[in-house]
Formats: sequence, C-alpha cells, structure tokens
Amino acid sequence: AYCTAIVLAAGQGKRMGTKVHKQYLELAGRPILYYSLKAFEESAVIDEILLITGAGEEDYCRREIVDKYKITKVSRILQGGAERYHSVWNGVQELKEDGYVFIHDGARPFVDEEIISRAFQEVQVHKACVVGMPVKDTIKVADKNEFVEKTPNRSSLWMVQTPQVFENHIVRGAYSMLMRESYINVTDDAMVVEQMLKYPIKLVYGSYENIKITTPEDLEIAEVLVKRKK
Ligand code: CTP
Ligand code: MG
Repeated sequence: AYCTAIVLAAGQGKRMGTKVHKQYLELAGRPILYYSLKAFEESAVIDEILLITGAGEEDYCRREIVDKYKITKVSRILQGGAERYHSVWNGVQELKEDGYVFIHDGARPFVDEEIISRAFQEVQVHKACVVGMPVKDTIKVADKNEFVEKTPNRSSLWMVQTPQVFENHIVRGAYSMLMRESYINVTDDAMVVEQMLKYPIKLVYGSYENIKITTPEDLEIAEVLVKRKK
C-alpha cells in the first residue's frame, strides 16, 4: 500500500517562547524537524513525505533541511494554516485516492521505525489508529474554578502522540466534514475521525521517549534522549 507521511511544521511555538519557531531549534546540532523527517525517510513503510510549513518558511526548509540532509522522500513543501487542523487539511487534500497517511508532529523528533511499522501493522487491520502510551500520572478533570470535578480511572487513560495513521479516504472524509463546521475545537486527528465519523480508533503503543517538544524543559530532556540514541 502507498504510504504518505504528513509532517507538520507550521506552528508558531508560542509555549516555547523562542524567536525561532521551535521545530527549527537545534538538537545536538541539527534542527528538531530534521529528526522526524529522517525517521520517515529511512522507514521501509513510507513512500512519500508532504512537509507542511509556515508561510515564508518553505525556502528555508528546502535549503537547510530537505536538501542539506538529503530527505529525498519529500515530494512537496506546502503551506500550513492558523491552527493545526488547517495545516493537516492542507496536506490531506493532496493525498492520493488510496493508501495510508501518517500524520506526524514535526516537533516530535523521537518517532522511530519500530513505532512506524507497529502503527502500519495496526492500520492495515483497523483502518484508523493513533500512537500513544498509558499515562503515568493520575489525571484530574477540573471545573472552571480549578476545583477537582472527578478522577478518571488511570488504567483507562492514554496520552496520545503521533503518528496518527488512517486510510486516506477516512481522514479525507472526516476532515472535509470538519471544515464545514462553524465551531471547531479539536486537538488531534483521531478526534476528528471520532467525532465526524464515529469510527473506532485503535490505540497503538508508541514510546515514552516519543515526546513533543513544547516548552523549554522538553528541549533539555530531548538533548539527553538524543545523546543516548547515538
Ligand atoms: N502545527 C502546524 N500548524 C499549526 C499549528 C501547529 O503545523 N497551525 C504543528 C507544529 O509545528 C507542531 C505540531 O503541529 O509540529 C504540534 O503542535 P504544537 O506542539 O501545539 O506546536 P505549536 O502550535 O507550534 O506550539 P504552541 O501551541 O506552543 O504555539
Ligand atoms: Mg499549538
């Protein structure tokens, strides 16, 4: 089956708070975005990468990442949008009719072949799956005054990561329905498929290392993880 990775790098990194958008910050001397592109480049499963980036960042991405590190599977560099779901939609519209899509956060550099191939196995059976891990902390639901409303049973809770992997037509159908809504509040791709299509989503084990670089301390943790891998 033809497999496309949509790698998202059109965010502003507001919680990181650096002038340079976080996906371009250096991790062991290379841009964070390089690592996730490299994982899909080297994956036996992936045929093509669509890179989604911010307006005006296309040339930088091509020159300083795609060409420099010979990420040959990147067929196109597309512009993202204001919210993550806009960026995903811009990629989804370019997908082939059939095949599978791996939607991945460019700010998640520790995705690896094990995770990609595990997700590929599962998506061929279940058609829609997301990578995640059981939570380690107890999670509380808060009310608007920050009082505890309830405590869901930890053993049923997962934190979700990316890639989130779907048959192309499922994600295309779900996102095209979403884009016709007047009020949109989604934080991941599975949620779009859950809400629009009510389609069952299989959870697949990622890894506790597959962190998203979000705030400055994540970058320090990432430096440790990247050194351990080398
Ligand atoms: N992303 C995107 N387009 C957007 C928003 C986010 O492509 N409009 C991408 C980011 O570049 C990142 C991934 O989606 O790789 C996950 O988003 P997040 O961690 O929230 O990144 P940012 O939106 O950049 O960070 P922040 O929310 O702190 O501003
Ligand atoms: Mg964001």
